[in-house]
Parts: sequence; C-alpha cells; structure tokens
Amino acid sequence: MSTATAPGKVILFGEHAVVYGQPAIAVPVGEVQARATVEPADAGQGVVLIAADLERRIVVRQAPDDDPLAHIVRLTLERMGKPPDPDLTITVTSSVPIARGMGSGAAVSTAIVRALARHFRFWLAAREVSELVYQTEVLYHGTPSGIDNTVIAFEKPVYFIKEVGWEIFWVGKPFLLIVADTGVVSSTREVVGDLRRRFETEPDRYSPLFAEVGRLVTAARVAIEQGDLPSMGELMDRNHRLLQEMGVSSPELDRLVGAAREGGALGAKMSGAGRGGNMIALVTEESQSRVEMMLRLAGAVRVIVTEVR
Ligand code: MEV
Repeated sequence: MSTATAPGKVILFGEHAVVYGQPAIAVPVGEVQARATVEPADAGQGVVLIAADLERRIVVRQAPDDDPLAHIVRLTLERMGKPPDPDLTITVTSSVPIARGMGSGAAVSTAIVRALARHFRFWLAAREVSELVYQTEVLYHGTPSGIDNTVIAFEKPVYFIKEVGWEIFWVGKPFLLIVADTGVVSSTREVVGDLRRRFETEPDRYSPLFAEVGRLVTAARVAIEQGDLPSMGELMDRNHRLLQEMGVSSPELDRLVGAAREGGALGAKMSGAGRGGNMIALVTEESQSRVEMMLRLAGAVRVIVTEVR
C-alpha cells in the first residue's frame, strides 16, 4: 500500500490578474491535506478510484475523457510508461475545502500522482508533478494560470508568472495568516469566465486594474522578503479594493474582510476566484484571537490559522 499527501493553498496576492500575465504570490497551507492511497486489487478489476468525500466510485476504463480524477490517473500511468489499466484501487480523501479557492482539485490530483509514483517506485520531480496536474486543472477551471498546481507541487511560497515561470522565494520573517471561509461555494471556472467576458467588452477598464495589481505584487514580494508586515497588510487591503473593482468580491467576502480589519488585522483580502470561498487576514500573535472571534461573529463557517515561513 502506498500513500501520499498534498497540501491546500491560498493566493496571497494577484489572483485573476495572473490569468492576464501579471505576477501572483501563493503559499501552501499544510493544515488542510488531500491524501491518496494505492493498493493492488484482484486480477481483472482495472483501476478503480474511490473518492469517499465526493461519494464517487470511478472505474477508470469506463470514465469519460473529461473526468479530472480518471484523467490524472491515465496521464500519470502514461507518463511512467505503465500499462493503462493495472489492477489497482486508489482511495482519495481530502480535508481541503472544495470550491473555496484552496486548490482542492490540484491537491487531490497531486496526491494521486505522488501515490501512483510511489507505488511504482518511479521518481517524478516536483516540476513534472505540477505539469501533469496542470492538465487536470484545465478540466476543472477552463483557462487556469497554473499557479495552484505549482504551489501545491512545490509546497513552498511561489512568485508566479503564467507562461513565464515561477520562483520559490525567501520569507524574511514568518507570518500568521487566518483563512476564513464564507461558506459560499464558488466556481473558479465561472468567475474567471465572467471576468474574461467583461474584460473582452471593456479592455480599457480592466487592463489598468490588472497592471496595478502587477505593480502591487512586485512590491508585496519585497515586503515579504524584508519581513515588513505593515506594508504587506497595506498591500493586501489595496489588492482587495482592486478585486472589488474587478467585480469578483461578494458581500460575504467584504463583510469578513471588514470584520478582520476591525479586529486588528494588519490587512485582509479575498483569496482565490472570489464570489464566495475564502478570505485571508494577516495577523500577529497578539491580534490573532480577536480577529478569529470577529470573523466567526461575522459569519465565517471555518477559520484556519497557518504560519507562512
Ligand atoms: C484561482 O485559485 C486563482 C485565479 O487567479 C484563477 C487562476 O489563476 O487560474 C482566480
């Protein structure tokens, strides 16, 4: 039996603008994890994937081409030069909240790739894992930037530019983030698609917003490297305002962002695709419990605290 895990992620700065070529920064969140286990099965069974949380049992050879879970199994076997339908049972569980901008799809796919590689004693570099997972992100999200699979496969803070590359960078001083869930499910594919349509109708309105996010992300990287938490907080607030202008925030997200600031957070913003999902707040050890309380009072359904280092 071979088991592997993968973390969730949050985008710290630059979501959406990243789809249009601007840089973005994302960090792994190890407090939530996807886990995959691969076990040999009876002869003739083929690959069966059981995703208990999703109440799904997938017979891979019968699954349609666009099923992301079957797709990642097929791609990984092909990449390793293995027969397409070995007798295996793959069990997947995940504590990464689904459809909340925490990379649940990429985390599950990454855990599956890693568990299969481990089962066959095949070495796949993080870059190769990321590239395989990207191909399933396309099925989940339409036109993903690739930031989710990158940060999850490398499990390090990344500075990312679509189709250009990424860098793992130095965090000058560890910092505390609160990730709070609005409880509202949102579809990355829909929000990204909607913004794309609005951008195509009014490029002159949206291009300057994306460019401003790009400048802000560059400044944020410097602030993170220097351990300058007050500047980071300020940049988070500015990034949130720009996301509001793009029309991807929501009343629930704005309420939680306001509550976190009232509670004394250094900065707060929505994170990920928006229109639901999660927001993040930058806190200190002193402000952490007050911000957490304010977020719960404002309706957060789940609050995770993570240290970024
Ligand atoms: C989703 O986690 C982040 C977005 O920027 C989409 C993407 O980068 O593919 C909204």
